Amino acid sequence: MPSTSKSSVKKRILSGVQPSGIQHLGNYFGAMKGHVELQQSGMESFIFIADLHSLTTVRDQKKLKDMVINLALDYLAIGLDPDKTVFFRQSDIPEHAELTWVLNCVTPVSMLEQAHAYKDAVTKGSKDATAGLFDYPVLMAVDILIYKPDIVPVGKDQKQHVEIARDIAGKFNRIYGDVFKLPEPMIHELRGFVVGTDGVNKMSKSYGNVINMFADEKVIKKQVMGIVTDSTPVEAPKNPDMDTVFKLYSLFAVEDEKKSLANKYIAGGFGYGDAKKLLLEKMLEHFKPFRDERERLCQNLDFVKDILKTGAQKAREFASATKAEVWEKVGLNI
Ligand code: ADP
Ligand code: TRP
Repeated sequence: MPSTSKSSVKKRILSGVQPSGIQHLGNYFGAMKGHVELQQSGMESFIFIADLHSLTTVRDQKKLKDMVINLALDYLAIGLDPDKTVFFRQSDIPEHAELTWVLNCVTPVSMLEQAHAYKDAVTKGSKDATAGLFDYPVLMAVDILIYKPDIVPVGKDQKQHVEIARDIAGKFNRIYGDVFKLPEPMIHELRGFVVGTDGVNKMSKSYGNVINMFADEKVIKKQVMGIVTDSTPVEAPKNPDMDTVFKLYSLFAVEDEKKSLANKYIAGGFGYGDAKKLLLEKMLEHFKPFRDERERLCQNLDFVKDILKTGAQKAREFASATKAEVWEKVGLNI
């Protein structure tokens, strides 16, 4: 019997990742790396692929399948250990959709009207402001509440969704009696965001200013060489703190390496092209074990699918235990 009770000693931490395309350095440093490090936290860690949420934006069967499998490959390649983290696909657990209906029935429409994603879509006059997008926060609340985690690490943009989950949990508990635990959001602010290759915006698929750590080396080279820099000539001294190449290099380098590169900038006679070459080298060296592992996993997709299935079996024990409690409380259990 899974320990869904409050007496469980180990804290539980859970997060979901919506498949949305090829991952980049912003995703890696801003979310993925932290998710994987959770398995060292001594807490029970759950990470899942939120493919039901992707249906709000992806309407292409092949694309969705590719995105899901690629995201699984990315996480396993960077070190997610399925023996330490319960790693699964949301749609493998039917209780997510089932409980969403029940929680829909206690969620005020006014609460969902305040949710950013839906509000933005309506403001932009989008024809894609579907019922699914409107209900996105309730599905996300279920994703969280069904596993009774203590902590939910999310990016800043998702904080509101965790607050909505807490509100829905509180409302349900008040009406029917205590079932759900109110989770705490853990906002990963990083040391600021990862800057994009345009040097202006945060790295994001929507700005097309990304470096994809699992792309072909040729593509990565093109992305790195395309980083926008100022026009200070090679001979002149440069300010490393103002430069995008240096900022990206700093994500990988240890203190001594950073200092050594900064000194080259300050001394002059060192061009941005030279800095880009160092960044490329450093980055490829950093990701080499991950890239090799991903390559190996790509040849074993059945193995990857089995990992997700095993993760789903473990997750389902928790989900079905919570569902049974909810069904009992609301009277669906005659
Ligand atoms: P994109 O902006 O490319 O569509 P997503 O919105 O899918 O990226 O991001 C998924 C996660 O990765 C979020 O939790 C977000 O916090 C993190 N992330 C994305 N881009 C960055 C960035 N440039 N810097 C830091 N974190 C980022
Ligand atoms: N909406 C989250 C995002 O876009 C993904 C997500 C779905 C999630 N369900 C979740 C995150 C539950 C944390 C907990 O990033």
